[in-house]
Amino acid sequence: MKKILSLCAVFPLLFSCSSVDSDKIIEQLTLEEKVGMLHGATMFSSGGVDRIGIPPLKYADGPFGIREELQDHSWAPVGLTTDSATFFPTGSALAATWSEEAAYLYGKGMAQEARTRGKDMILGPAVNIQRIPTGGRTYEYLSEDPYLSSRITVGYIKGVQENGAAACVKHFAVNNQENNRGSVDAVVSERALREIYLAPFRAAVCEAGALGVMAAYNKVNGSWCAENKVLLSQILRDEWAFRGVVISDWGGTHSTVDAALNGLDVEMPGDTFFGDALIEAVQNGDVPEDVIDNKVRNLLYVRERVPAIDPDKANKKEVSTPEHLKMVYDIALQSVVLLKNDKNALPLELKTSKGNKLKIAIIGETAAQTNALGGIGAGVKAKIEVTPLQGLKDRIGDLATIVYEPGYTSYTAQDRMKGGVLGGVVLAGTGSTLGAGRVGHQLDEERLNAAKAAAQDADVVLFFAGDNREIETEGADRTNIYLPSMQDQLLKELEKVNSNIITVVVAGAPLDLRNVDKLSKAVVLSWFNGSESGHALADILLGKVSPSGRLPFTFPATLNDSPAYALKAYPATEKAVYKEDIYVGYRWFDAQHIRPLYVFGHGLTYTTFEYSNLEINGQEVSFTLKNTGKVEATEVVQLYVHRKTSKSGVEWPDKELKAFKRVTLKPGDSSVVTLVLAPDALQYWDSAAHAWATTEDPLEFRVGSTSADIRLTSR
Ligand code: BGC
Repeated sequence: MKKILSLCAVFPLLFSCSSVDSDKIIEQLTLEEKVGMLHGATMFSSGGVDRIGIPPLKYADGPFGIREELQDHSWAPVGLTTDSATFFPTGSALAATWSEEAAYLYGKGMAQEARTRGKDMILGPAVNIQRIPTGGRTYEYLSEDPYLSSRITVGYIKGVQENGAAACVKHFAVNNQENNRGSVDAVVSERALREIYLAPFRAAVCEAGALGVMAAYNKVNGSWCAENKVLLSQILRDEWAFRGVVISDWGGTHSTVDAALNGLDVEMPGDTFFGDALIEAVQNGDVPEDVIDNKVRNLLYVRERVPAIDPDKANKKEVSTPEHLKMVYDIALQSVVLLKNDKNALPLELKTSKGNKLKIAIIGETAAQTNALGGIGAGVKAKIEVTPLQGLKDRIGDLATIVYEPGYTSYTAQDRMKGGVLGGVVLAGTGSTLGAGRVGHQLDEERLNAAKAAAQDADVVLFFAGDNREIETEGADRTNIYLPSMQDQLLKELEKVNSNIITVVVAGAPLDLRNVDKLSKAVVLSWFNGSESGHALADILLGKVSPSGRLPFTFPATLNDSPAYALKAYPATEKAVYKEDIYVGYRWFDAQHIRPLYVFGHGLTYTTFEYSNLEINGQEVSFTLKNTGKVEATEVVQLYVHRKTSKSGVEWPDKELKAFKRVTLKPGDSSVVTLVLAPDALQYWDSAAHAWATTEDPLEFRVGSTSADIRLTSR
């Protein structure tokens, strides 16, 4: 076994140190001025020093759009008319593009809007691994897979930082549940921590040069993230050579001395621990002044790279420009996932076989709902959000007849408040039996009858199911993955009067779609997909573009098939023991031989692809891809590595994603595709040696269209 000592050695550090200037600045500052920079000055800024012209650092939520302006010391909006923004597809939607380039454009757009709004550091991307399907922030996070998460993270951060703003990758680390996030201790093995949970953070720092890291609310292996010596000092600073600033999550600091000594730089948003208490700790000798100087140096390092915007110039210009709307349209278009398509039910033909205009019944409230705001988490005051219903009307015009019926009543903010969701208590109201939408809730007779009448009269039913941002929300996990609001029951009723059903699921996380899959000819996953969501969806449904999104997570058939649930490792209140270890997502389903409903990496197109001529050359894998169907389409080719035996004795998952690429081909065209493994792709974490290592275990390369549909295998 070969040990690899320097963790960042494979990626050259992007920045060189220029501490001389900062040292000169630091010499001029009093202790009070220095400490004044280490805590919140307002809800979304940390202090500057007016006397010598150091401006405050301005932060902006969040991962998927620049949040509206809030009052200095409360969460209440200021109420400007100039602070609306573009709503970008949420995290899992972005990851479903399987495109680092799309992530780069996303980051670029976010940076441009942040700067126009006068912000320095974007509080994103949010990159925690999607450990449980019910996680409240699964929609905000990227993937269950560390490699896919890492590629999207790197694209996003480079896009942000090469366009003038700083990125703050969050939530460091192992913040995989929302219930009890402020108290839970995530107990995780060294190997799972390194290979799974820290992977996107390591890529963010070592490869993309992230300027900010946000410490999470929870504890990891017994210590709060905002004072965790292993995470903040040993891993982040010493191993990864992080040069930027570590800020706490909002209200996530728990001490003065431990947090200061172990690596937190800035307490947000107040000054309970890093205000007078920190000055006193220095004066008492509990915290050396050098430690304070280092924190200021980290802040100046960021400031040097991201100059402040003149406050008089902020929030003056329109941010949600046509260019940005086009950008989010392009990203949304690449993210929509076609889960099922029996007998080419999609794309929709707008004329019937008799040449009449198609009669379409659009049923389900998620068709008409916006998703930019909601839950208790950061949202976007979107200037524009095209709903699926609007998108379909815009694109179809009078070429077909559209009738809309809400069918069911969606879960609302009021319902959530009644359920006492705040503070991480279970999200009341998503029921506990198949299809139950809310405890004790029934389908509304009038809505049901109107929906059935519309379905009966239509040629095709477009059924809209899924969640909204009150159900998938920061601060609370879902109690199950059943479709809310009696959607399964409604679908069964509709199927009795018209079996030509296409279901569109609007959600950011896995749902139990067994019933939907059974009763629908086609199933499409449309995500919480940003300002142009409705237009992108309509263009996919109508066949203007072939779908090309791929699942960034596994859709289990039932919740209990998923690892943490199967092992009763979740729900967890005080200690969450990560018993599944490295077997997260598809790694678990493979190991247990459980068939999920839709596998990781799944997604259909409107064409067919043929794979041939596999060639392996060291860490390069090449093959020929041919579009054998009738329309242009993009295939997402995926490379998984399998170990044939383990002579070394190391335990391996059945397969791990190591490379992927989007390849667009016209009908009949073919292309030689080369996938290159990263230099560190074959490493594993040797827990006994506390180091990365490689083995001589024989490899098998598997090239596929999904994680289960493997088309070529090396000998
Ligand atoms: C969230 C962060 C967010 C911060 C500021 C916290 O509750 O966990 O992701 O950036 O609030 O809004």
